[in-house]
Amino acid sequence: MAQSNIEETGIKTLYHPSKEVVKQANIKDYEKVYAESIADPEAFWAKEAKQLKWYKKWSKVLDDSEEPFYKWFVGGKINIIHNAIDRHLLTWRRNKLAIIWEGEPGDVRTMSYHALNREVSKFASVLKSMGVKKGEIVTIYMPQIPELVIAMLACAKIGAAHSVVYGGFSHEALATRIEDAQSRVLVTADGGYRRGKITDLKSIANEAINRSPTIEVCITVKRTGHEVHMENDRDFWYHDLMNLPIASPNCETEVMDSEDLLFILYTSGTTGKPKGLMHTHGGYTLYTSATHKYVFDIKDEDRWWCAADPGWITGHSYLVYGPLINGSTMVMYEGAPNHPYPNRWWQMVEKYGITIMYTSPTAIRGLMRFGDQWPKRHDLSTLRLLGSVGEPINPEAWRWYYEVIGGGKCPIMDTWWQTETGGHMITPLPVTALKPGSATKPFFGIEAIVVNENAEEVKPGEEGKLVIKGPWPGMARSIYGDPDRYVSTYWEDYKDKGWYKAGDSARIDEDGYIWVIGRIDDVIKVSGYRLGTAEVESALVSHPKVAEAAAIAIPHEVKGNSIQVFVILKANVTGSKELEEELREHVGSEIGPIARPDKVTFVESLPKTRSGKIMRRVLKAKAMGTEVGDLSTLEE
Ligand code: WTA
Repeated sequence: MAQSNIEETGIKTLYHPSKEVVKQANIKDYEKVYAESIADPEAFWAKEAKQLKWYKKWSKVLDDSEEPFYKWFVGGKINIIHNAIDRHLLTWRRNKLAIIWEGEPGDVRTMSYHALNREVSKFASVLKSMGVKKGEIVTIYMPQIPELVIAMLACAKIGAAHSVVYGGFSHEALATRIEDAQSRVLVTADGGYRRGKITDLKSIANEAINRSPTIEVCITVKRTGHEVHMENDRDFWYHDLMNLPIASPNCETEVMDSEDLLFILYTSGTTGKPKGLMHTHGGYTLYTSATHKYVFDIKDEDRWWCAADPGWITGHSYLVYGPLINGSTMVMYEGAPNHPYPNRWWQMVEKYGITIMYTSPTAIRGLMRFGDQWPKRHDLSTLRLLGSVGEPINPEAWRWYYEVIGGGKCPIMDTWWQTETGGHMITPLPVTALKPGSATKPFFGIEAIVVNENAEEVKPGEEGKLVIKGPWPGMARSIYGDPDRYVSTYWEDYKDKGWYKAGDSARIDEDGYIWVIGRIDDVIKVSGYRLGTAEVESALVSHPKVAEAAAIAIPHEVKGNSIQVFVILKANVTGSKELEEELREHVGSEIGPIARPDKVTFVESLPKTRSGKIMRRVLKAKAMGTEVGDLSTLEE
């Protein structure tokens, strides 16, 4: 393939796609299609929706009578599994590989669409025999193994909703989520492999179950084979159940309403309590498949690798659902990118002939640190497109990814989106001229603007708040059990305008390119993972020696941000190195290792406004040695 054409224009460098990229692009003229999609979004989405399989066609594309509780494809009957599996069985794709999976120890499993269907149908039958009903929420807590995907799909097939809890979360975090979802059934595994070690998931699950009276059944996949505690009447081995006659491979896919719940996924917000965002069968099926198809220019011969964990939205939308709906072959890897050596991922690319790779800036920066010699050992020439997600990508990492991994010929799709949005919102297409660090332009049907405090659009180049005008099919429908919080978090600020508040700051340059800067609320992105300052703070104050705490994000070279905490100790307790370590450990065990603060500072008091809100920006300025700014609201 030819090199892309790089245009140096002084203040900005544009990376134009090569002729080959343009030639095979699913969309050649972004501006034209975008203009059409904005002129009549409902017509645009209706046309796209016709490419899916519906049991019954919708009667109305968008119902906004109860905004912001929008409904899409009203009256339509659909099931995401009918689109992600069933329809492929009637075509040559039946024998196409759906999943190529590699475990960290190097074990490999592959599954065709035919085989995947059998496993999903059998497990769906098992769930049914356990009494799982349409609408109930099954919690899934697993390592990155094929059974995680099978469990998600089996739930969707029978009309149950899944709630996947990231396998790196603690028993505390798992129990809170089980309780909120009132799950009766938990699917887990004995453990998984990470950096050569076994993560003991079943023990963590057991601790969570002990605090979760709603759980009646726990199904455990045997992955690592180490000794685990199982209780009669409650615990079942997955493989035992799958060998019983109840595991029938004949299981009908449930006919669902467009707006029926597909899953909830918990994410962090401004309070300590994580919110379960709700996504539905109709809109989500459409949005994930359309974005995956156009942004990644997906073709039948592709080998698609999304390196995200299914425990986060990227894994839901672009490891599991989008690719399967598009009939792709997906690659899935269980372990750490640098285990046993920093070439593990590049080895995967070469071994499986991966054509498109999608990962986070943190992973790229982490691997970049080890030097070019690791990727250089491998033939990465099969790659044709690259993707980035989860946090802003700094131009240095962008260029390394582009030159060293992509060989200067693979456009990078820097996709901005959120758990709430279901799929890509601001993103290049393969034909877009790229600027390193910019997520470029909005996807079809999406209008993104940047506004000031008075909700007026700012001038080009000025920083402001990122908002999305109006609804789109992939949007979350609500927060599980808390519709008021859904309204107040996302819609209240621009109520009369019907705009969605993203919670990020951004600027738009003179060429209309959007540069997302970062969160402006109390959410921290650490290594691309989303955490709330309030979660970290409540974990800290649950420690018997802590009176009060504040958490802030400090820029970090590899992780994007690191967490720094300021702690007021209870009377008669003095700070020490040991206590610092104890508190870091404590946060790690309350939330999960990703939340462990990098630095703990003991203080006598915290800067607060007169109404008692902690002024995190003052702490941040102090920690970074920068200007504090306006202090007029400071209490003392
Ligand atoms: C951030 C992850 C800059 C952003 C899909 C957003 C990004 C939050 C990008 C959502 C990007 C995601 N450039 N920032 N390409 N992608 N973000 O819910 O702050 O885990 O609001 O969804 O990640 O995080 P979430």
